[in-house]
Amino acid sequence: MKKISIVGAGQVGTLVALRVAEKDLADVVLLDIVEGIPQGRALDLKQSAHISGFSVNITGTNDYSDITGSEVVVVTAGFPRTPDMSREDLIEKNAGIIKEISLKIKELAPDSKVIIVTNPLDIMVYLAMKTTGFPQDRVFGMSGVLDSARFADCIADHLKVPVNSVNAMVLGAHGDTMVPISSHATVNGEKITNLMNDEQINKTIEETRKASLKILQHLKTGSTSFAPSAAIAKMIEAILKDKKEVLPVSAYLNGEYGFSDVCVGVPARLGRNGIGEIIELDMTGEEKKQFADSVESVKELIQKLEV
Ligand code: NAI
Repeated sequence: MKKISIVGAGQVGTLVALRVAEKDLADVVLLDIVEGIPQGRALDLKQSAHISGFSVNITGTNDYSDITGSEVVVVTAGFPRTPDMSREDLIEKNAGIIKEISLKIKELAPDSKVIIVTNPLDIMVYLAMKTTGFPQDRVFGMSGVLDSARFADCIADHLKVPVNSVNAMVLGAHGDTMVPISSHATVNGEKITNLMNDEQINKTIEETRKASLKILQHLKTGSTSFAPSAAIAKMIEAILKDKKEVLPVSAYLNGEYGFSDVCVGVPARLGRNGIGEIIELDMTGEEKKQFADSVESVKELIQKLEV
């Protein structure tokens, strides 16, 4: 049986464990810094196996040596934002955590693919890549699968169509500068630019950018977890089953889209070896400009890191 590890047994990490188990994808190691939490949650999850019918094992631990041999390590450790914070406000709190975890992954799971989830996402992916020293095809972040699902949900609500008839992609940074690519969005294959006017499209774009904040304002504490965990599980499945599926992920750019030495959301082919290739999508002039601004916003924050 394949093995994956999840570092951070909080809201998101625990739900990723559940989704991976229910898809019977791999044995799961759930690791956290707090004693008892990963052990207790892992036992609770494991006891659902007989009911849900999965056969993978789930273990909880505080010991990093248990991540040895993992094909994928997912990092969901760190502080979530509160409604009064931007994702970028988390940079100082979470950079130390990501550095510490990256060094452990480098030492104990040197052949793994690493999926970063901790915010601010693109900056943490960059930090993890530099700290592990892993090649760029093995360290990437979850953002675009989630943001694209939110864009699809907003479009479906506006047009009153089933969400599964919508195809939509969001690129750029995982933050307020994200770029929902409306020129490629379709409903049953028809471009949304034929179905909605500019004002309606701009409204769905704004709603997509504010989708997470809207949830946080309802919840007051804690963060989003159901949709994020579904997005992470989709990425894990693409890797473990070598699906070579094109998914938007935060990846290190080395000249693609005209940018270098930055991590940002782009479509990438995910398979057994991680990122197989980065796909360069045609964008309108306005989308290109927004994408460039988004990349610049990430670059500015990267300058603040001590890598
Ligand atoms: P949470 O607070 O429920 O869980 C975080 C867990 O990390 C806690 O159990 C904590 O004990 C653990 N932790 C802290 N420091 C650690 C360390 N050094 N080693 C191991 N474990 C450590 O938070 P939640 O809601 O699960 O969110 C986790 C992160 O994911 C946050 O930064 C949040 O902003 C981010 N996030 C990112 C999303 C994305 O789209 N990329 C979506 C949702 C959340």
